[in-house]
Amino acid sequence: MSRVLTALQPTGVLHIGNYFGAIEPFLKLQDQGNENFLFAVDYHAITVPQDPETLRKNLLFATAVYLAAGVDPSKTTLFQQSHVQEHTELAWILNCIAGMGELERMTQYKDKAKGKGESVSVGLFAYPVLMAADILLYDTHIVPVGEDQKQHVELARDLAERFNNRFGFTFVIPKPQIRESGARIMGLDDPEKKMSKSAPSEKNYISLMDDEATVLKKIKSAVTDSEGTIVYREHRKGMANLMTIYSLMSGSSMSEIEKIFEGKGYGDFKVALAAEITAFLSPLQTKIKSYLEDEDALRQVLASGAEKAREIAAKKMTEVRKKIGVA
Ligand code: TYM
Repeated sequence: MSRVLTALQPTGVLHIGNYFGAIEPFLKLQDQGNENFLFAVDYHAITVPQDPETLRKNLLFATAVYLAAGVDPSKTTLFQQSHVQEHTELAWILNCIAGMGELERMTQYKDKAKGKGESVSVGLFAYPVLMAADILLYDTHIVPVGEDQKQHVELARDLAERFNNRFGFTFVIPKPQIRESGARIMGLDDPEKKMSKSAPSEKNYISLMDDEATVLKKIKSAVTDSEGTIVYREHRKGMANLMTIYSLMSGSSMSEIEKIFEGKGYGDFKVALAAEITAFLSPLQTKIKSYLEDEDALRQVLASGAEKAREIAAKKMTEVRKKIGVA
């Protein structure tokens, strides 16, 4: 049995990239009889300023989304990162074996820090080390993530190997699992960059909570090209992205999609794509809303998940403290 673990930031906007990059692959692994961990990383979220009330709401929203998507608390330990203090404790220890150079090379840090100068938080810089702690604490084998998190999982592998070499075998070396198609959904308004909740325009992404009219509007304004055909070619970034989304939503292959839209134009394709997205989102939204009606039940799920996670994390930290000589 493998240990599978992934985590997402609790933000008000979870988009279809988050869903297909991480949540759906996680669900497949969950239902293959692995030992599973999923959590909302609130201490990652505060690496950029957060309004406390909104953060509190977003944590419950994230939990409702996971449950609605099919996360089963009897198969998955579902919790909130800050409820298990060992995450930040291990992160500190790993900070002391991580190099400034390797963190400076992290692409996500470089992107997020761009133009911010000296005001960038130390937390944003050290963020991948906290992520390494998240993963290593549970002796994780498989980390299903989108393409943008691959470099961070590789850092976790490097830190685990370094720690093991210095102090003797302690951590399992984790592997990222990145799906072949859909691990990097691109922005609708800028298919050169990944779809992102922090993009300047809402037209960049499809939120899991977007209604039918919003989906149609966003898809209609999505960037395409002047070729006019529904044919998958990697260099046709906008169309390749829209066809990938169509394929993820409908389960059709690229050649099936090409056949369906042979002789048709972008207008027909976009209307059909928006309909596929809405058919996928609408039942999910109904479930999310119904989970959100009982906040106490959501808090209860998180509390019992944290209890289970703490047991494993505490054991690992006892071992780590001994290995480094503080216990
Ligand atoms: P976050 O919250 O930015 O993203 C959550 C997950 O969604 C994936 N993702 C995408 N996949 C496909 N296309 C996209 N456009 C797209 N955008 C985001 C991300 O790759 C991710 O899998 N640091 C992480 C959270 C984290 C974590 C962990 C993950 C903290 N600790 C331990 C795994 C294991 C993050 O901020 O993801």
